[in-house]
Amino acid sequence: MPIYAHEGLWILETHQTAYVLGLHTTGLLAHRYWGAKLPYPDDYPGDLIGEELVVGSYVLQDIPFDGLGNRVPQEYSTGAGTEYTEPCLKVAFADGVRDVWLQFERAEASDCELKIYLCDAVYPLSVTLHYRVWEAFDLIERWVEIENKGDTPVTLERVWSAQWHLPIGEHYYLSHLNGRWANEFQLRREPLVEGVKVLESRRITTSHHHNPWFGIDRGTADEDRGEVWFGVLGWSGNWKIAAEVTDFSSTRVNIGLNDWDFRWSLEPGQTFTTPSSIAGYTEQGFGAASRHLHDFIRETVVPHGGAPHKVLFNSWETTLFDVDESSQAQFAETAAEMGIELFVMDDGWFHGRKDDYAGLGDWWPDAKKFPNGLGPLIDRVNRLGMDFGLWIEPEMVNPDSELYRQHPDWVIHFPTRPRTEGRHQLILNMAKPDVQDYIIEKIDRLLAENNITFIKWDMNRNVSEPGWPDAPGEPRELWVRYVQGVYRVWGTLRQRHPRVVWQSCSGGGGRADLGILRFADQIWVSDNTIPTARLAIQSGFSHVFPASTMEAWVTDMGEEFLPLDFRFHVSMCGVLGIGADLRRWGEKEIAEAKKWIALYKEIRPIVQQGDMYRLGPLAADDFTGVQYVSKDQMSGVLFAFLLHRLDPATPLILYPRGLTPDRLYTIEGYPGARSGAAWMKTGVQVRLSNFSSTVCRIWGEN
Ligand code: GLA
Repeated sequence: MPIYAHEGLWILETHQTAYVLGLHTTGLLAHRYWGAKLPYPDDYPGDLIGEELVVGSYVLQDIPFDGLGNRVPQEYSTGAGTEYTEPCLKVAFADGVRDVWLQFERAEASDCELKIYLCDAVYPLSVTLHYRVWEAFDLIERWVEIENKGDTPVTLERVWSAQWHLPIGEHYYLSHLNGRWANEFQLRREPLVEGVKVLESRRITTSHHHNPWFGIDRGTADEDRGEVWFGVLGWSGNWKIAAEVTDFSSTRVNIGLNDWDFRWSLEPGQTFTTPSSIAGYTEQGFGAASRHLHDFIRETVVPHGGAPHKVLFNSWETTLFDVDESSQAQFAETAAEMGIELFVMDDGWFHGRKDDYAGLGDWWPDAKKFPNGLGPLIDRVNRLGMDFGLWIEPEMVNPDSELYRQHPDWVIHFPTRPRTEGRHQLILNMAKPDVQDYIIEKIDRLLAENNITFIKWDMNRNVSEPGWPDAPGEPRELWVRYVQGVYRVWGTLRQRHPRVVWQSCSGGGGRADLGILRFADQIWVSDNTIPTARLAIQSGFSHVFPASTMEAWVTDMGEEFLPLDFRFHVSMCGVLGIGADLRRWGEKEIAEAKKWIALYKEIRPIVQQGDMYRLGPLAADDFTGVQYVSKDQMSGVLFAFLLHRLDPATPLILYPRGLTPDRLYTIEGYPGARSGAAWMKTGVQVRLSNFSSTVCRIWGEN
């Protein structure tokens, strides 16, 4: 049983880990353990370590400066009494009382879910903590429901999804993903010290600047070894991570909706449900932490997890807004010749879209560019044996559009302020049901009338003047209701058109999270397609997301200093695409592209569905490798990249991973079959000159 009660504890066990909570004698719901699964139920600590305050020979249970709530690691702290650590829940009752005193009511456990029902000691406010055990993935999912059982509204000011606790009394390092537009997913690692380290988004979308992911270790973990506690938030809007080290050496990671400018009026009888946080523990380093998330995302989150992701062509970097039937048809011919499977027409195809000053909102084909609609182009693409995909940016509107002229009040704005434009566009208020219905109607029609099997859903700016003048209630509910609106629109379209594959894009990787991956199978990782920059971006991305979600195009960026094979190899580490200006590619380039696309189709099941290993010296960013191994460990593929190494004499050695130790393997380019153990322990030396790369296949023997 993954969940059982034992001696006042609730024990949640996955394949290799355990998560334990219990009631403290004072009634507080306390965290007891999160780490490796232990052999016996009695092994899990029932009494709390670290709650006594010991000063020399004084042992104090209660002192006025640090109440017990401050010292007992709680599952869901609320800042009650003399508790000053970061609370998960902050509310204001109608009479002005602004704290919550939670009491345990009851627990309910089923096969894989534990529900703990708590309620306020005085007020009719109930809090249900949900824990779902994902046994096979070694993950625990947590979310919370808050229900107002009274007859006056309660204002929620903060409501987080989880507080994840690390073993008390130790020192930890926080790994996180930092960045900005065109430089997303840069891995950072820093010591956690007393105080609060905050990572967040306040931009109404998720992830250019930070991703809602954390990895915690003791400062000693590497890709293969060491304890790592890690987690994510499945949410596509404003979020916050507050990693706190208390004055009593308790380290915890709070994760949930951002409380910045957040208010939610919880009316009588209503329930507020938080997004989920999913977290795990491993003793096998950051690599294993990533693979747990990859499996979970592929098998339980994305809509078409097991299906092969097609090699695509995208028109953006070729034609920008200048798309029309005949030019696109011409590219389609070349794309088909190269072996492309999916032809995606990017921006520029819809009513009035000649540049980025006009058109967003008017989601029907531009009559000048497509006098007979999209049908003829799509037919042509289909006849060439390819699927057809289309770019849209449904949450946006240009002031120069029919939609805006009809509904200037549909955008997010403060009536007394100028409407700040970003890329000449404003944001539609997706919290409004009439806005949602308009988008559903327009995109549904496009999908119903045309044979479109792929949609790139973009979102190209961040919020400003976050007003909702005609809000039916609390206007600061915008932050959450906007995302719920996006989910409703996307969910409705997905339901009506289940075979369509969606890509989540937000000026590159601005919306990469497990919330959006319930709808989208792929993510456009960055607008930066320079392959050398891409190596770091892709490596950071891979800490959370599997290669099957990582769209990676070969473009013309970097052509002045990188050979075409290098550019292909980088993109072959994810879902391969071509976004180059094909008019500039001669016969030689086309032939080479053909070769790499054919190889990619052969290795695609391993790259997209296998286990990924980041290889190479940890600190080096001039020499790196990535390896993928099929789930049955029978085949693999290894990529190696050398940038500019100042010391050319250092040997370039990669140590393969994930092979069966006593099975014989052949690695392309290396003589003889050797055991998996031999390859993994002695490594392979690669011969690369500056700015070059290689790819080798790995075959196991039966
Ligand atoms: C964003 C995307 C690009 C492209 C353009 C189109 O920048 O990230 O890939 O689709 O919009 O305007």
